[in-house]
Amino acid sequence: MKKLKNWDNKTWLSSKPYISQFNKFLKKKINLNKDTKILDIGCGRANIISALQKKYKFRKKPIGIDIIANKDVKKNIVFKKIDALKYLKTKEKYDLILIKQTIHFFTKTKLNNLLNLAKKSLNPNGKILIFSLKTKNNSIPCFKKMKENLEKSLKRDEVLFKIIKNNLKKISYTNFNFKVNISKQKYIRMIKERYISCLLNMSNKEIKFGISEIKSKYKNQIKFTDTLKCISYRK
Ligand SMILES: C[S@@+](CC[C@H](N)C(=O)[O-])C[C@H]1O[C@@H](n2cnc3c(N)ncnc32)[C@H](O)[C@@H]1O
Repeated sequence: MKKLKNWDNKTWLSSKPYISQFNKFLKKKINLNKDTKILDIGCGRANIISALQKKYKFRKKPIGIDIIANKDVKKNIVFKKIDALKYLKTKEKYDLILIKQTIHFFTKTKLNNLLNLAKKSLNPNGKILIFSLKTKNNSIPCFKKMKENLEKSLKRDEVLFKIIKNNLKKISYTNFNFKVNISKQKYIRMIKERYISCLLNMSNKEIKFGISEIKSKYKNQIKFTDTLKCISYRK
């Protein structure tokens, strides 16, 4: 798969309201305090753990790992450019391992390896929280070809969810909902920058064609709910 660089590049996923609502949601899932040790796998620009660090001033700075080092990764965390499977072999232990919108980058075998290593990297009572786009009735605004690719990818995610259930066994599910209200112009920029993996392998011509479809299909302001399924595992 080509590399994803603009996922959280000035999109609603890096906006203050999103990060703040997301971190409130996290707080309901895990008791955060100064001693909590956090690892964010596939952290992107590390907006989430950076905001947590600002709020909780953890004694050990959260660690964010990603195979891409974006130039504007947040500075108040420890960032490492490394593959998750390699990093988890360092045998450090964490209270929270966050894997947000990242599982679809893994093959079935690698996902199993990732989960096995993540389980071993948890402190007693530690938690793994996995977030991924909901697969049914997803309302991400799409043009036709984008929708086809997204549906294919969501079908594959369902297989990955089964792998997670078989591997982690005692898990619980909830949803994180964020109401997006974005101008069509801004959303078109996001599509041009291929903000989501289902756009990565499209030709420039397909993107251009898709944008004209979005232009005619949506009003000036686009509103929808971005829903993530949250899978929670406690050691
Ligand atoms: C869709 S982004 C999500 C970023 C961030 N977690 C968020 O929710 O805003 C997925 C990230 O996972 C990273 N990634 C993919 N495969 C990875 C791997 N094997 N190890 C570490 N990071 C990986 C990608 O480079 C990308 O930055």
